[in-house]
Amino acid sequence: MAQQVRGVVAPGKGEPVRIETITVPDPGPGEAVVKVQACGVCHTDLHYREGGINDEFPFLLGHEAAGVVESVGEGVTEVAPGDYVILNWRAVCGQCRACLRGRPWYCFDTHNAKQKMTLSDGTELSPALGIGAFADKTLVAAGQCTKVDPAARPAAAGLLGCGVMAGLGAALNTGAVGRGDSVAVIGCGGVGAAAVLGARLAGAAKIIAIDLDERKLTTAASLGATHTVHAAGTDVVAAVRELTGGFGADVVIDAVGRPETYEQAFYARDLAGTVVLVGVPTPEMTLELPLLDVFGRGGALKSSWYGDCLPSRDFPMLIDLYLQGRLDLDAFVSETIGLEEVEAAFEKMHRGDVLRSVVVL
Ligand SMILES: NC(=O)c1ccc[n+]([C@@H]2O[C@H](COP(=O)([O-])OP(=O)(O)OC[C@H]3O[C@@H](n4cnc5c(N)ncnc54)[C@H](O)[C@@H]3O)[C@@H](O)[C@H]2O)c1
Ligand SMILES: [Zn+2]
Ligand SMILES: [Zn+2]
Repeated sequence: MAQQVRGVVAPGKGEPVRIETITVPDPGPGEAVVKVQACGVCHTDLHYREGGINDEFPFLLGHEAAGVVESVGEGVTEVAPGDYVILNWRAVCGQCRACLRGRPWYCFDTHNAKQKMTLSDGTELSPALGIGAFADKTLVAAGQCTKVDPAARPAAAGLLGCGVMAGLGAALNTGAVGRGDSVAVIGCGGVGAAAVLGARLAGAAKIIAIDLDERKLTTAASLGATHTVHAAGTDVVAAVRELTGGFGADVVIDAVGRPETYEQAFYARDLAGTVVLVGVPTPEMTLELPLLDVFGRGGALKSSWYGDCLPSRDFPMLIDLYLQGRLDLDAFVSETIGLEEVEAAFEKMHRGDVLRSVVVL
């Protein structure tokens, strides 16, 4: 029987979000209904509300979540009712050309639930990133549920579902930071702070955190940054070079995603170094660089989709590290809030007051 639950809906471009009664269908073949326990507020939710992703309003927001599987549809074998899971937004297909070449973290055909959740009047909802977890329950593809150790508290575990995984993965997977490397991270919000943590986990010798907000630099230092650079009115490239013997960092991670930060990343890395773009630009942004510098500086210019993670490989491993006290996910939980406080949480995020507000149900 379809269920009626509460959900946070963005009704139209730029309009405040509101709580609506939504209808969650029983899971069909390959689907699961998950009872949500916690869901972080990510910048991408705000992008949806502002119409920056697409115009498929109304959106059911929320996508950094942990919860318990309530029911599964026909043919589902990977999870069962009662399993504690983190939801992921890249359920790999196993059959596309990326998957067949053994690189499933690039999967070009990730999938979501086929059925739609709706408003009470039958209007179909577009769940953010195919998840929609600012709700008591949500319907997803079973492959979007990744089982992890239930000892991890939902508010911390759920964050691996998006921003924190993207940042950790930008350092660990995409940037392939190694022992002794120097790393610079531009923008230390939830994603960049996680990149700092990832760089430390990988054994980087020097980790330079760069942000416009002093509070973010303080947090980054507590997570393992060895140096901080306040970006306002500063020549960021010169500052990074000065801190790295005049050369630049081996890996520079742009966790803002603007032309000016990308250009800083490009020139703040050492010759043959790596730039990782994990911040997401908007459609009107363009970049101009001397092609000779692209050639002459060598190395690699990479983008990081979801931290190039493979949820089934990375989530359980990172949760184990968290439970061993080696990965401080709790540091990202700035506050826990109720469903009715999502709009206020957007404000706090906008002002830079929080790394993550987390809705707890
Ligand atoms: N690649 C992915 O899969 C993925 C996943 C999640 C989020 N993201 C993206 O990552 C980006 C960061 O997300 P977040 O949740 O950390 O956002 P956030 O708002 O919490 O953090 C952004 C940080 O960048 C800082 N900043 C802004 N402009 C700057 C500049 N010019 N120089 C230095 N610092 C600057 C801000 O002060 C803030 O601390 C967003 O673009 C988001 O959409 C990407
Ligand atoms: Zn695939
Ligand atoms: Zn997100």
